[in-house]
Amino acid sequence: MSKPAKIDPDNIPSHIAIIMDGNGRWAQHHKLLRTMGHKVGVDSVLNIIKSCRLLGVKVLTLYAFSSENWQRPEQEVSTLMSLLKTFLARELTNLTQNNIKLRAIGQEERLPADVREVLHHSIRQSADNTGMVLNLALSYGSRDEIVRAVRLIAEKCLRHELSLDSIDMETINEHLYTCGLPDPDLIIRTGGESRLSNFLLWQASYSEIYITDTHWPDFREPQLLTAIADYQKRQRRFGKTGEQVATRTSEETS
Ligand code: FPP
Repeated sequence: MSKPAKIDPDNIPSHIAIIMDGNGRWAQHHKLLRTMGHKVGVDSVLNIIKSCRLLGVKVLTLYAFSSENWQRPEQEVSTLMSLLKTFLARELTNLTQNNIKLRAIGQEERLPADVREVLHHSIRQSADNTGMVLNLALSYGSRDEIVRAVRLIAEKCLRHELSLDSIDMETINEHLYTCGLPDPDLIIRTGGESRLSNFLLWQASYSEIYITDTHWPDFREPQLLTAIADYQKRQRRFGKTGEQVATRTSEETS
């Protein structure tokens, strides 16, 4: 087995967001039911939460269920909801002990009442934790999020609480589900596909994207370290030239 990638502890992405793909293919490869892929995927979720917390990641966003995933077979949707409910109920103590605050983004109102109840309970119980935010994207779709933000802003304009001239990027940020969270520095997609699948489209403007063929159930700490090492090799320019960024970095460190 190869050694885990070496990473610079001073350049850990503050916000890592993950598209956890490939559960179905993993299961197929192991001649198991698709739902087994999701079950083993929960073990990866636990492993990655723990690793991120230890590494000092500030926000970990996991794309657990998209607004389009409701179209999947009923049996698969209900397994995913049940895994989610069990995870939330079982892991609350663990989250709290590790100073992790739970948050959720997406159309909560579409989640079954029992899942909503345990989700709200865990969010409330972990609200004062400061070590890391675990942000679960549940029934989340970025286009839906943007439409919702536009509606909220338009309503405020109609009520004269907001003027048209004052609308800027910050106004949009404040009306997204992710309000108050930094944009992701690193977006990881497992399962090898090269697309964003309606995930954090606004917030991903300057995110570094890392795609791996590894299926989610096989994605654990060593694979996370490889992704972070790859991120650390990149120069984030935010539209500037490489020279400008290099000059600034050397000024900051001198
Ligand atoms: C995509 O794989 C994965 C999902 C739609 C669900 C992800 C859910 C989990 C990992 C478990 C539940 C989450 C938590 C936070 C407890 P896919 O089924 O589309 O894979 P495929 O592309 O190989 O078919």
